[in-house]
Amino acid sequence: MAQYDVVIIGGGPGGYNAAIRAGQLGLKVACVEGRGVLGGTCLNVGCMPSKALLHASEMYDLANKDFATLGIEVAPKLNLGQMMKQKAESVTALTKGIEFLFKKNKADYVKGWGRIAGPGKVAVKGEDGAESILEAKHIVIATGSEPTPLAGVEVDQKRIVDSTGALSLPEVPKSMVVIGAGIIGLELGSVWRRLGAEVTVVEYLPRITPGMDEETAKTFQRALTKQGMKFELGAKVTAAKVGKKDVELTIEPAAGGEAKSLKADYVLLAIGRRPFTDGLGLETVGITPDKRGFIETDHFKTSAEGVWAIGDVIHGPMLAHKAEEDAVACIELIAGKAGHVDYDLVPSVVYTYPEVAWVGKTEEALKAEGVAYKAGKFPFTANSRAKINHETDGFAKVLADAKTDRILGVHIVGPQAGEMIGEYCVAMAFAAASEDIARICHPHPTRSEAGRQAAMGVEGWTMQA
Ligand code: NAI
Repeated sequence: MAQYDVVIIGGGPGGYNAAIRAGQLGLKVACVEGRGVLGGTCLNVGCMPSKALLHASEMYDLANKDFATLGIEVAPKLNLGQMMKQKAESVTALTKGIEFLFKKNKADYVKGWGRIAGPGKVAVKGEDGAESILEAKHIVIATGSEPTPLAGVEVDQKRIVDSTGALSLPEVPKSMVVIGAGIIGLELGSVWRRLGAEVTVVEYLPRITPGMDEETAKTFQRALTKQGMKFELGAKVTAAKVGKKDVELTIEPAAGGEAKSLKADYVLLAIGRRPFTDGLGLETVGITPDKRGFIETDHFKTSAEGVWAIGDVIHGPMLAHKAEEDAVACIELIAGKAGHVDYDLVPSVVYTYPEVAWVGKTEEALKAEGVAYKAGKFPFTANSRAKINHETDGFAKVLADAKTDRILGVHIVGPQAGEMIGEYCVAMAFAAASEDIARICHPHPTRSEAGRQAAMGVEGWTMQA
């Protein structure tokens, strides 16, 4: 029987980072993954392929709509097969990269589906169906999440797809309905809208992207609407009838009222994700997930001795980079070090055009908590780099404590917002005041100056306008 210090179940961003960190710290470690390839949802059917399609479709959209403004006359022609091929090649290169890192850091990659088979034991069912047992001082559950289903709208991955199916449609839909105006719906809806589909997003709430700062979400929605995306807010889908070449959805106002029907070639269901713990043998060590399926933990420790959990299966934002932070902290705690994650500083990015990125509190959260704050805001219409590039959608907004000036939240909507937010993650980790950013020289001309100007705006001395 193979014996390990740590056996990790799941090879996504949580699991593979945990395996590499354990190897670095000299622990004997194995990572069990059943999909036949490392990287989990993020690398295989999530963050990476979606970003590959977002980048390629953005280039296509730019070539179609914006190149002429720059004096470049082209007539782009879509080659969907090639777009999908380069996506697949990038994904393969990345997953192979993780295998290399496993070897380099002496982490064993065990292929097969793992389940806990009692304290200190993980059973792995290999491709041949035979089961082997790994013995472990510590078991780390990193099994991630799966799409949340919706009654009456059954995913067949042909006409009604989830995020996985939407990454590999065989054609550009003439029309697509996206159910759920969350990050997945808007990112993948954007891909297909740019490639030519008419996209309608049906959202249960009266607003898009719950959790995002409300003013930011409104500006974001205006930008998406300008690009041709349609929104049916405050509406729920109650039934779906799949035909040969389309789907007919029944839509009702969320508050009740008359139903109407909406037809589309393809439907993308993206109403959230839920923890994935099917067949994991949690009962063999006495772990019962909570009502929503999450495993409850205290500093990654579950209720079972020697069993830890990280990433999407535990509470907190379901984000790859949060899972990575969990992974490192959890393994460091196992190794007797002081692993720690600051969950107030986990940034979020929506990789649409424009991008939306934020870190820290929204205005709504600060109001609800009764925190007195000041806001500084700067529009990209007044940023020289944005103007020169004809990319003036959006703004940067800095929220700071009214008494101490400590930065409490930053919200950016605009191209490359995801790259800009890193500066504020660092600043907030060092407990910066808005004045610290306002008095730091930033390169000119860059979009980062809009972030600085927003910080200057907290004390009312914004200069470029
Ligand atoms: P989400 O939780 O972000 O959004 C789901 C949306 O669906 C919400 O707006 C919700 O109100 C709506 N909804 C729920 N039930 C509905 C119904 N019956 N009818 C209509 N609307 C309904 O979930 P999403 O977009 O599926 O993403 C799942 C997870 O993956 C999230 O935690 C997200 O943050 C993460 N993710 C992150 C990405 C990134 O960081 N760029 C990319 C993709 C996913």
